[in-house]
Amino acid sequence: MLILRAADIAPSEITPRELYQRRREFIKAGLGLAAATALGGGVLVPRSAPAATPAAEPRRFDGVRKGPFGSDEKPNSFKDITTYNNFYEFGSDKESPAEYAQAMKTRPWTVNLEGLVHKPKTLDIDDILRLAPLEERIYRLRCVEAWSMVIPWVGFPLSALLRQVDPLGTAKYVEFHSHLDPRTMPGVRLPVLDWPYVEGLRLDEAMHPLTLAGVGLYGQALPNQNGAPLRVVVPWKYGFKSGKSIVKIRFTDKMPQTAWMKANPEEYGFYSNVNPNVDHRRWSQAKERRIGEFRKRQTLLFNGYAEQVAGLYTGMDLARNY
Ligand code: MTE
Repeated sequence: MLILRAADIAPSEITPRELYQRRREFIKAGLGLAAATALGGGVLVPRSAPAATPAAEPRRFDGVRKGPFGSDEKPNSFKDITTYNNFYEFGSDKESPAEYAQAMKTRPWTVNLEGLVHKPKTLDIDDILRLAPLEERIYRLRCVEAWSMVIPWVGFPLSALLRQVDPLGTAKYVEFHSHLDPRTMPGVRLPVLDWPYVEGLRLDEAMHPLTLAGVGLYGQALPNQNGAPLRVVVPWKYGFKSGKSIVKIRFTDKMPQTAWMKANPEEYGFYSNVNPNVDHRRWSQAKERRIGEFRKRQTLLFNGYAEQVAGLYTGMDLARNY
C-alpha cells in the first residue's frame, strides 16, 4: 500500500475537529500529497484561492410534494449539512467547500446526455427542473468515512432524466461527470484524483426509483457546496457514489472507471454499497457516527434500504463486488 497517512485511525474513532487538527499538523510536516488518495486523508487547499463571492438569495422551490421512501428520522440541521462537506474540487477538508464553492457559477448550466442512446441531448438546467414534479425525500447519507447524516433532499427520480435520451439496449452502465474548472476549484490544482470527478452506476441502479436527481435540500436550491445545480443521490451506497455538480451523463456498455477506483482500486470498488459486514481496508464499516451525535450507531446493510434494493444484487458475492 502506497498511502501515507497521519495515522491509521478510522475517521469514526476521532472527532472531526481532532481529525482536522491532525491533518493540519500532518500537512505542515510536508507529507500531505501522499495522503491524498484516500477519503479520510485530507489535503488543505492553498489559501491563495479566489475569494468567495457573496451567495445570492437562495432559490426556494414551490409545490414540492412529499415523495416515497422518506425516512422519519430527524434531519440534520441545515448548518451541519452545508458546512461539513466532501467536495474535493474545493479542498479535501470538510470546511473548504462551503467557503470556496461560492465562486462556482451555476447559471448558465447544461448537462450533456450522450453515448449509447437513441437521442443524445444537451439539456439546460432550468428545463431539467421542469422534467418532473419535485419531491422531498428524507434520506440517510452514509459516508465511507463512517459518519452519516439525514438530509431532506429535493429532487425527482433520476430515471425521468435518463429516459429523455432513450438509452439503447446495449447501454449497461451510466457515467456521471462533475464540473471541472481550475479557476474556481482550488482543490483540482492538487493531484488528489484524476479530474474530473467521475462516478458510475449500473443502468438498473441508476433507473431505480430510490435514485434521485438531487436539485435542492430543505426546500431550496442546492447550496453550491452540496453539488449545485444537479447531483446524483444514491442512498444505499457510500456517499462518494453520488457525484456533485453534474455536467455530463454518458451511457456505456463497460463498467466505468471511476475517479476513486483509479485512485485506489483496492479501497474503492465500483459497487460501494453500504455494508456493515465488508470492512474498508483500513477501518471497520460496522458502525457509524451520525453528525451531531456522540454515540455510534450500527450501520445497516444497504444503509437501511435493503427492502428496496437487495434484489438488484441477487446471487452476487457482495464481499467480492465491493
Ligand atoms: N462529488 C464531487 N464532484 N466531488 C467530491 O469530492 N464527494 C463525495 C460525494 N460527491 C464528492 C462528490 C463524497 S465522498 C460524499 S460523502 C458526498 O458527496 C458528500 O455530500 P455532501 O457534502 O453534500 O454531504
